[in-house]
Amino acid sequence: MKEIVLSGIRSTGNLHIGNYFGALRNFIKMQDENDCFFFIADLHSLTTHPDPLNFHENVKTVLSEYLASGLDPEKSVIFVQSTVPEVSELYTLMNMWSYVGELERTSSFKEKVRKHPNNVNAGLLTYPVLMATDILIHRANRVPVGKDQEQHLEMARVFARRFNSLYNVDFFPEPSAYNFGTELVKVPGLDGSGKMGKSEGNGIYLADDEKTIRKKVMKAVTDSGTVDAGATMSEPVQNLFTILQLVSSNEVVQFYMEKYRAGEIRYGDMKKQLADDICKVTLPIRERILEIKDNEKYLNETVKYGAEKARKSASKTLAEVKKIMGFKWN
Ligand code: TYM
Repeated sequence: MKEIVLSGIRSTGNLHIGNYFGALRNFIKMQDENDCFFFIADLHSLTTHPDPLNFHENVKTVLSEYLASGLDPEKSVIFVQSTVPEVSELYTLMNMWSYVGELERTSSFKEKVRKHPNNVNAGLLTYPVLMATDILIHRANRVPVGKDQEQHLEMARVFARRFNSLYNVDFFPEPSAYNFGTELVKVPGLDGSGKMGKSEGNGIYLADDEKTIRKKVMKAVTDSGTVDAGATMSEPVQNLFTILQLVSSNEVVQFYMEKYRAGEIRYGDMKKQLADDICKVTLPIRERILEIKDNEKYLNETVKYGAEKARKSASKTLAEVKKIMGFKWN
């Protein structure tokens, strides 16, 4: 069945392979068979108060990286969040049926409060409301995201159900998180623990050149190197295997796993293989990024074309929501 698929990426800088394997790769697979909306969440990026010059550049970067990775504006609606003002209007309405208590309990909010106690703005608190708005405004069914967004998706489902029940309608579908495997993916960083993230400085970027990739991978944290056969795998080594599984063939993964189990693994060799296989995925994308990023005309046209299509879908939903809620003037 044809479904409405939607997903987005914040415009906070270059995309890393966590974004690619967690989300982007799944978008690309879905665009042939579904009605797909992919957007750049520039409003979400404002929670960290970016410099106005970087703000625009970052949107251009993510857009170029989307297109270079294979998203096709003829097959999908590719747009920038702020070019669809209907999103901001529905967000205002949605804030009326989201509660402060549940927003304060969101893990991502609690983490931001812990990490950045001097910038706990209301935009951070209502971040999941804006994200749910992005999804519900196109009445999306499937949302390809990484594991880190699971809770936000659950909240979008809660808000959809709450609206339907508050107004006694069956209007919003309940969106589900989606990945082609059974599990949502969490791509770890190269620093031994946690996920790969833009602010963690532990990532490999789609725009990295070969030398940088090799250097980063060779420096990745492992363990002491002498492994007893049958020992429990340490987190940093598990992380390297997780990335290897994403970029390498089954035979390669099998080979290093057997070496590991036999206590004969040489991390240097495994890292070299890992770097080779990451390069195979990312370097062709990097080449296209460099071409596309300089093509102002193409980028401008793509944004304009995407905004027209996204606004059509968004304004239809917004008008229906307002009708349901009792707005009569327009
Ligand atoms: P963002 O920009 O942090 O990440 C974009 C996408 O990349 C995935 N991702 C990862 N997946 C696996 N492993 C990782 N290490 C990793 N890092 C990032 C994320 O799961 C996400 O799918 N709030 C969202 C953007 C957004 C959005 C939306 C997404 C705004 N509105 C509506 C979907 C639907 C965000 O900050 O993603």
